[in-house]
Amino acid sequence: MAKFFWLTNKKEGVRMTNYINPNKVPKKILYTGEKIPCIGMGTFGSDRYTPQEIADAVAGAIRCGYRLFDCASVYGNEDQIGAIFAKAIADGVVKREDLFITSKVWNNMHGRGDVLLSCAKSLKDLQLDNIDLYFVHWPFPNYHAPGCTVDSRNPDSKPFSVDRFMATWRQMENLVDMGLVRYIGMSNMTIPKLKAVLGLCRIKPAVIEMEIHPSFQQNELYNYCIEHDILPIGYCPIGSPNRPDRDKTETDVIDAELPEVAAVAKAHNVHPAIVCLKWAVQRGQIPIPFSVHEKNYVGNLRCITEDPLTSAEMQSLRSAERGCRLVKGQVFLWPGADSWEDLWDLDGTITK
Ligand SMILES: NC(=O)c1ccc[n+]([C@@H]2O[C@H](COP(=O)([O-])OP(=O)(O)OC[C@H]3O[C@@H](n4cnc5c(N)ncnc54)[C@H](OP(=O)(O)O)[C@@H]3O)[C@@H](O)[C@H]2O)c1
Repeated sequence: MAKFFWLTNKKEGVRMTNYINPNKVPKKILYTGEKIPCIGMGTFGSDRYTPQEIADAVAGAIRCGYRLFDCASVYGNEDQIGAIFAKAIADGVVKREDLFITSKVWNNMHGRGDVLLSCAKSLKDLQLDNIDLYFVHWPFPNYHAPGCTVDSRNPDSKPFSVDRFMATWRQMENLVDMGLVRYIGMSNMTIPKLKAVLGLCRIKPAVIEMEIHPSFQQNELYNYCIEHDILPIGYCPIGSPNRPDRDKTETDVIDAELPEVAAVAKAHNVHPAIVCLKWAVQRGQIPIPFSVHEKNYVGNLRCITEDPLTSAEMQSLRSAERGCRLVKGQVFLWPGADSWEDLWDLDGTITK
């Protein structure tokens, strides 16, 4: 048995026990009918891992069967990850067309002509001819210096404006026309903002990326996306336990410690992180968990191919909702804004 455990698939260089056949990973369907994996891997290292450590994890994740990767220029590791994609494709570990790679334009690159520049840089770094899905990372051009404290404010920051956003979106649409990206998406949106812009889009967003985990389920926004045939991707699916310290507040809930999550984890004899991911996939969003640890990223992919949660467990996890937003976005506030809640249009209108 021990011998079998250490058998390796020479072509893929991975222990067979760590290989999950991508064909066995359920798929979600984009508005065009194209299928994409129901789970992906995040690549933001929360300032805790080097770009190379994250790129090495991406290499391991490709070998073990991940096909969807959530990248972004601001994560500062696209060139290292691009080298991994190129090698995996050259070595025959994966075909380019079997990968679904996202990237995102950062807030300081929304201006006229800048979206194309940012996309070109990501294409070069990722060593791709096209990006499968390109996001507007945040819906306003509010830049903050990397690593700044949460109370830092940029005097040039501005509240959301439909005209400004649509000028950025037109550049995103042009990228599709030019064949540089296949789909475009929005991230960190709210229902009032979507109501204001969706009717103006020539090319609709295929995906909305938003924070979703058991203690922050975003039911209304999730349902709004489904009603508009837009796939939700859920970030921080495990509750981002290792997010940068500056993003932690005393009132934040720890998803893994919620009694609803812990009880299901105990019943299935798994880590609570696994419960969060099973819940995400069975609920319907695409989770993009991050880990550099092989045991964890392999387990995260494997768990959605086996031992599903019961409908009673899914029902009990609905009550894990605590309204706990972890990525509050304080650093994007504009002069005159009251608090981070202003970013999220809590009263149903766009905060100006
Ligand atoms: N669009 C946006 O604005 C936005 C914002 C935030 C994040 N994101 C994306 O979402 C991705 C995921 O978010 P995130 O990284 O903040 O949070 P997350 O995926 O909820 O949590 C990641 C943490 O969970 C731990 N973990 C992962 N699998 C585990 C397992 N099986 N058992 C125990 N612990 C486990 C990892 O620790 P170890 O490293 O110790 O395994 C890691 O530090 C990011 O990487 C990024 O791609 C997008």
